Amino acid sequence: MNSSVKIVLAAIVGSTLAILLVSSAVAENKAKLTAKEVMQKFHKAPKDVDPVCKKASEGKATKEEIAQLVAAYRDMASDKPVKGDAASWKEKAAALLAATEALQSGAADGVAKYQAAVNCKGCHSVHKPAPPKAAVIR
Ligand code: HEC
Repeated sequence: MNSSVKIVLAAIVGSTLAILLVSSAVAENKAKLTAKEVMQKFHKAPKDVDPVCKKASEGKATKEEIAQLVAAYRDMASDKPVKGDAASWKEKAAALLAATEALQSGAADGVAKYQAAVNCKGCHSVHKPAPPKAAVIR
């Protein structure tokens, strides 16, 4: 093999690797939900519709919904907090994930664990950023 062929081959291998690395990073970013998206998808619902978190708190969520919750909370638990202390976030998000996994496994205390872990105010008071002040009307 002459040296210019080697250089061309090396360039092809190098750029293919770079493309693979970039595309896998993009795919990972896309698949992961942020805390905000988790809230909007599972903790919030239109008027007269129960959000998934409410159904789960009442032991009424379907297997499918619980599986989606587990995946969503796993994303949240592996993410950094948008606000507040990282150790506190880890603890709260991990508790929420563990409680939902208990719910998924059908454990007798699954619902009680979920109710305790999905404490909106307990988490928001530490980790939810304040709304922008610009909306205040004087
Ligand atoms: C483990 C922590 C945690 C728990 C528990 C939690 N939240 Fe949140 N929530 C957050 C964080 C963090 C944000 C801010 C996300 C952002 O602005 O990026 C948020 C934001 C929200 C928002 C605003 C979303 C938006 O569009 O900006 C809603 C609505 C919400 N939460 C509902 C709830 C409800 C209802 C519960 C209880 C049933 C709850 N959350 C429990 C962490 C939590």
